[in-house]
Amino acid sequence: MTGRSSPDPCQGRWWSSFLLPLDIHVIILTLCRYVNVLGRVRDLELTLSIKQKQLRRMARQFAKAELAPIAKEIDEEGRFPWEAVEKMGPLNFFGIQAPRRYGGAETDSISYCLVIEEISRVCASMGLMLAVHNSVVVHPISQFGNDEQKAKFLSPLVAGEKIGAFCLTEPNAGSDAMAIESTALREGDSYILNANKIFVTNGGVADIAVIFTSVDPGNVKKGFSAILVERGTPGFEVGLLENNCGMRANPVSSIILNDCRVPKTNLLGREGEGFKVAMAALDNGRIGIAAQAVGIAQGALDVSLKYAKERVQFRVPLAQHQAIQLMLADMGTMVEAARLLTLNAAHVKDQGGDLSCPSAMAKLFAGRTASKVASMGVQIHGGYGYSKDYPVERYFRDARATEIYEGTNEIQQIVIARELLKRGED
Ligand code: CAA
Repeated sequence: MTGRSSPDPCQGRWWSSFLLPLDIHVIILTLCRYVNVLGRVRDLELTLSIKQKQLRRMARQFAKAELAPIAKEIDEEGRFPWEAVEKMGPLNFFGIQAPRRYGGAETDSISYCLVIEEISRVCASMGLMLAVHNSVVVHPISQFGNDEQKAKFLSPLVAGEKIGAFCLTEPNAGSDAMAIESTALREGDSYILNANKIFVTNGGVADIAVIFTSVDPGNVKKGFSAILVERGTPGFEVGLLENNCGMRANPVSSIILNDCRVPKTNLLGREGEGFKVAMAALDNGRIGIAAQAVGIAQGALDVSLKYAKERVQFRVPLAQHQAIQLMLADMGTMVEAARLLTLNAAHVKDQGGDLSCPSAMAKLFAGRTASKVASMGVQIHGGYGYSKDYPVERYFRDARATEIYEGTNEIQQIVIARELLKRGED
């Protein structure tokens, strides 16, 4: 080959001088398109609608202005912040997905997740209050209630004039929800309820409780029913508040019903349908808890990034140490993955798909992520991270609950495994 050159096929042709620039042009155009496609695929945010982004911005601003200044104090005092809660009603936070007819914002589920994430990013106790109210009280009433029930119960709940609670758990019925011992005996046009419900989120402030009970004590499954009970009904008693490790601004309590008489018209769905009402509510609720967990994880990442830039050790900010960068990279990746799984579950819901498995996957992964990311955040803060003077300690405590309520990690795994095995048979 030495001394020889290949013949140039373009030699002497007038267009040959344009070839190089044309090639580069095509390559650049293709690259631009590729980068754009990658951008869309990589960052789900690009696919959020303007409305969804506006709602997220509004929730972010609200959390920054109204919750950030009090989050530490209400956690320490175990105080429910009525002053901030009262401002949530006019923003439609109590009826994010509720029908417009009853005053709700009737948004899609992705918007709902964005609001819960932003609130929880600053104050997980308030994220929990809203998630339970919206997704396991307002939603099942919207789904299973008749027109009279919706008119009576939804309107004040959606306006934020009343707060809801979901009462399934009992001393002997935690993960095994079918083991409830509550009873609702028929008497004329009424039910007489006796129940001891524990670990009730919002319990201390709830006005309307969805009580899971059985109208057939001899056959709990056959009689499993959901009944709406209002605070103030004779026999309705709020027990002691739990002295919980985290979510301390949420008044989690027991609710005791002693011969509590309610009209039969308060039955949600049909007699014997209560377990399905509970499971459907939890399928939906788990998306909200996943969004809450994403918010907690994002909040822990936010404060860790800030601290890593400020804190100087070995003469440089922590952020310049590779050991810290590796942790931050893992934290950011986990948060993003949890968010995508959560928004995927929301998307499945909006498309009318079967929610059980996607919502269980989202909650399982997001709950674990919140705990892991908050724990890494504590590690980045070193000794200060173990002190109540720094917010990462609160995220660390709050995160743990997301692996327990609305179904423990192990319950989510059962739901997921059952679905996978079922699919395997198809
Ligand atoms: N949607 C609709 N129906 C469902 C369903 C679902 N997701 N899951 C089950 N069902 C139906 C089944 O089809 C079955 O119906 P048939 O009898 O007609 O066939 C019936 O319900 C019983 O189902 P299983 O046999 O699967 O019931 P199980 O006893 O094995 O329990 C379980 C299943 C998934 C483990 C369930 O008990 C469960 O989710 N447990 C966890 C409970 C939980 O999350 N508790 C948290 C309480 S709330 C809280 O945390 C506090 C708060 O304030 C928010």
